[in-house]
Amino acid sequence: MALRLASLVLLCSAISLLAIASAAPANASFSFNETFDVMWAEDHFKTSSDGQIWYLYLDNRSGCGFQTRQRYRFGWFSMKLKLVGGDSAGVVTAYYMCSDLGAAPTRDELDFEFLGNRTGQPYTLQTNVYKDGVGGREMRHTLWFDPTADFHSYSILWNTHQIVFFVDRVPIRVHKNNGGASSHFPDEKPMYMFSSIWNADDWATRGGLEKTDWGNAPFVSSYMDFQADGCRWEEPGPACAAATGEQWWDQSEAWGLTETQQEDLGWVGRNLVTYDYCKDTERFPEPPEECNL
Ligand SMILES: *[C@@H]1O[C@H](CO)[C@@H](O)[C@H](O)[C@H]1NC(C)=O
Ligand SMILES: *[C@@H]1O[C@H](CO)[C@@H](O)[C@H](O)[C@H]1NC(C)=O
Ligand SMILES: *[C@@H]1O[C@H](CO)[C@@H](O)[C@H](O)[C@H]1NC(C)=O
Ligand SMILES: *[C@@H]1O[C@H](CO)[C@@H](O)[C@H](O)[C@H]1NC(C)=O
Repeated sequence: MALRLASLVLLCSAISLLAIASAAPANASFSFNETFDVMWAEDHFKTSSDGQIWYLYLDNRSGCGFQTRQRYRFGWFSMKLKLVGGDSAGVVTAYYMCSDLGAAPTRDELDFEFLGNRTGQPYTLQTNVYKDGVGGREMRHTLWFDPTADFHSYSILWNTHQIVFFVDRVPIRVHKNNGGASSHFPDEKPMYMFSSIWNADDWATRGGLEKTDWGNAPFVSSYMDFQADGCRWEEPGPACAAATGEQWWDQSEAWGLTETQQEDLGWVGRNLVTYDYCKDTERFPEPPEECNL
């Protein structure tokens, strides 16, 4: 994997240069309050003394979550996360985009969900895509590193052609559009970015068999380095209303994966995927339309 990762650097630096060019300089101090609101349980939210790392706490009284004030439509969205270490069974840390503030019946959603585990057992990364309130498009991956030991970046590229989920710039999942109006591809509704931690011991770890051990509370997930290089819906700018081809994420280079990215995705597919709804013939005797793209 080291070689593969090295081979990614070239391409990725191209993307990150673009991403950084229009975002704030990496070292500029980031004001949490200008970009985010804490959604619930402010007493379960803390920042580092310089304000650059954001901690979400879960205990037996509450979890916690924050969201962007803006909605975005298309672009590159990235955050670094460090997950709850030790015994985190039952605990879910999430980082997702959603078109609504609640569980609206017609919401669009792009999810990263990290399912905790008993000490020494691997985390599961579950991704999902909702269009008009319909999800059920789960994929599950294990990771090639310990996500509790350090910060790693989790990113989404979103344009009218594809939605790509990245882990440390390695594409782990591609959700393709078929070009026309489709029932599986979220491309109309702008989305907020959310981050949260909550108790899900009814389903998260080994299907709900492993319960949260509250003796280990509080559980803490850490976030930093949010980047949103995309159209801001609340401050309309170029390319918000439609794909115009003016922004880098709208241009043909961003419509598909590069050859190296395809190789990396193949490697991930062969080695790290533990569940793919497209292959679940018990659940879907007819594979959903997007599975054939
Ligand atoms: C970030 O900015 C601070 C204060 O301006 C400066 O002291 C520090 O060296 C900078 N760090 C990096 C990595 O550029
Ligand atoms: C951000 O908002 C919170 C809650 O509204 C407040 O407690 C905090 O002091 C604010 N921080 C800054 C840096 O303004
Ligand atoms: C929550 O945890 C605290 C500290 O461990 C404990 O004192 C309290 O009884 C617990 N509350 C509930 C509702 O379980
Ligand atoms: C937790 O660890 C067990 C045993 O290795 C594994 O079967 C399971 O997939 C892991 N993850 C979750 C979320 O249950």
